[in-house]
Amino acid sequence: MENKEKNITSVNINWYPGHMTKAKRQMQEDIKLIDIVIELIDARLPISSRNPDIDELGKNKARLILMNKADLADNNLNDKWVQYFKSKGFFVIKINAKSGEGIKQINPLIAEACKEKIERDRRRGILNRPVRAMVVGIPNVGKSTFINSYAKKACTKTGNKPGVTKGKQWIKLNKNLELLDTPGILWPKFDDKETGIKLAISGSINDNILNITELSLLLIKFLMSKYPLSFNERYSLENTDGLSEIDILKEIANVRSCKLKGNEPDIDKAANIIIDDFRSGKLGRITMEEPVE
Ligand code: G4P
Repeated sequence: MENKEKNITSVNINWYPGHMTKAKRQMQEDIKLIDIVIELIDARLPISSRNPDIDELGKNKARLILMNKADLADNNLNDKWVQYFKSKGFFVIKINAKSGEGIKQINPLIAEACKEKIERDRRRGILNRPVRAMVVGIPNVGKSTFINSYAKKACTKTGNKPGVTKGKQWIKLNKNLELLDTPGILWPKFDDKETGIKLAISGSINDNILNITELSLLLIKFLMSKYPLSFNERYSLENTDGLSEIDILKEIANVRSCKLKGNEPDIDKAANIIIDDFRSGKLGRITMEEPVE
């Protein structure tokens, strides 16, 4: 364990892919064209999956936060986070982009968020100009899944087909709403190591950045403190009192028959199982961050 911990603390995450600079520039341009920023965040990591620069990029625009992957997140905390973001002045909904849950609440909320703009247009004699929206979020947060699911639902409902307007590609969702068809990719921002670790555990940043076994030890530590029952149940662990994270990992390797030559526990294999189980929700609904007032 000591060795592993040493490795973890020595990890220096420096992750800012070159193409993100280009993506940011593109987003600065695209944002000028739109009325409302639809920001997807990962409900399991409502802070770490947000890049705070979006507040600067999206200033003067209506703002809607979609807490995606809400099906994987702790529902008590989902509700607390909804309240938290509302208290900060955002419109917010928890959704599951994969199943479509929550998506039908979006249109009325967009209308409410853009009420001022619609009234301003009306005063200026501009009638029926659709609201223009853009989806933004960090990689893997579910932007493509969301756009597919949202566009399909909205188009089916209104009988519209995705439409093309000059220059940019817009998906015409209904007569009141158009969506820029390419999402804005935000780069995750981590000044602190913990954010990077949480993003890696959730699968938002590349696995190669951190070693999966190291990540699994940190995940075990978190789960043993916040969600011990579901964790112990999943791996049929009976008494983990006094066991270190590495002992628990070995125990899981034994329970799951992950063996190396000579019958040694294959902790790397067990680590992959735990991380995969977390990412796919097999460990239950888990949120790694709580709102702090
Ligand atoms: P991106 O465009 O923002 O990069 O993300 P993308 O839509 O590709 O989604 C990334 C992964 O997250 C996909 O899983 C997708 O199915 C999953 N996902 C998106 N929204 C939700 C959600 O609300 N709930 C759950 N549980 N999963 C969601 P994948 O492993 O890449 O593909 P697959 O397993 O779906 O085939």
